[in-house]
Amino acid sequence: MSHIVTPASSLRGAITVPGDKSISHRAVMFGAIAEGDTHITGFLMGEDCLSTISCFRKMGVDITVSDQEVIVHGVGLHGLKAPAELLYTGNSGTTTRLLCGILAGQPFTSTLNGDASIQKRPMGRIIQPLRQMGADIEGREGNLCPLTIKPASLKGVRYEMPVASAQLKSSILLAGLFADGKTTVIEPAASRDHTERMLRGLGADIQSNGTEITLVPPLTLRAMDVIVPGDISSAAYFLVAGLILPDSDITIRNVGVNPTRTGILDALEAMGADIERLNERGDVEPVCDLRVRSSRLHGTEIGGDLIPRLIDELPVLAVAAAVAEGTTTIRDAQELKVKESNRIAAMTAELSRTGADVQETDDGMVICGGKQLHGADFTSYADHRVAMSMAICALACEGNSSIDDPACVAISYPTFFETLDSLRRTNL
Ligand code: S3P
Repeated sequence: MSHIVTPASSLRGAITVPGDKSISHRAVMFGAIAEGDTHITGFLMGEDCLSTISCFRKMGVDITVSDQEVIVHGVGLHGLKAPAELLYTGNSGTTTRLLCGILAGQPFTSTLNGDASIQKRPMGRIIQPLRQMGADIEGREGNLCPLTIKPASLKGVRYEMPVASAQLKSSILLAGLFADGKTTVIEPAASRDHTERMLRGLGADIQSNGTEITLVPPLTLRAMDVIVPGDISSAAYFLVAGLILPDSDITIRNVGVNPTRTGILDALEAMGADIERLNERGDVEPVCDLRVRSSRLHGTEIGGDLIPRLIDELPVLAVAAAVAEGTTTIRDAQELKVKESNRIAAMTAELSRTGADVQETDDGMVICGGKQLHGADFTSYADHRVAMSMAICALACEGNSSIDDPACVAISYPTFFETLDSLRRTNL
């Protein structure tokens, strides 16, 4: 069933967003292979992170889930058990790719697979370096899911990554935990560094020198409690909504602002956004409250090293660009084509339905903003970020819109539409 979104004149109020997806996945995975219990608060109860929990339960890890916290009873680096069935990773690229790194070093055979989207996503990027480490890993037609991983002994590598991808980097580093000798990865540009921060917190010897990261395999990892900050990728929808709707003033509390994730703030500020960072705090991961007020946005250039720092926010940034005065050019974003959907094609098609002037390019989009947009029936391509981006776009359109498959937002933000409605209510 589709979801109707009516235009909004303004949005005002204070909200929190659900826990960070990347950190939630890692807290479960690393907690599972640590010694002792990991108490996770602020865990994202989204479908992707629940896929991670389900996979580790199938490998004998006891994980308790309550409203207050998730407790992972770690089994140590060598305590995972052979799963009796296929490890199903759903829609989650992070579960699939990071898990492969861990499975490559296990003394048992496992097969993992995900949904239709996962079965199309490129796995060659992890298969190739894991094989270089000695892994025995086979994919369908070479580099697609399902993947079967057999026992093998691994050796450390020095690997120059062809793409800036935290999933690829993390997969190699996780295999490195089980390898003989140290593992070094070199990134073409810095991607999110949650893996490095968390592994360091668990006692691993992991050194970062610019975009070169070296891990010396530890004897053990010591469990540590994790407080998951709000996901800046989820906050991004309400940042853009607050900016493009007149008379809006939204405070988003407790948002993770790890510098490898704050490209969205940099890009929006370059477009003229009024965003304040309040109460900066945090330990392993920096956190603050973000206050956003309506702003007259103008076009900008987005590319280069900024791309990995805002890769998941590009769909909603395209919405901001369609409303902004002037031209926004997004380049160097080929990776968007191999996300949960081809997000360049999807956003170009959906924004075009509103009358926006958007051209798809090989590595991004050119958006000439500032036209009055009109409501339309939007397709989400079963992609949570496309669905939420078009819901935000619909707020600024003349006339009503509909979003097909609104349930797909549960991948990363199950309460998205309720939060949106709460901001409208504050306004009545
Ligand atoms: C993620 C890394 C990014 C991002 C994804 C989460 C992670 O993917 O798009 O949503 O948790 O490591 P890539 O590594 O493919 O860029």
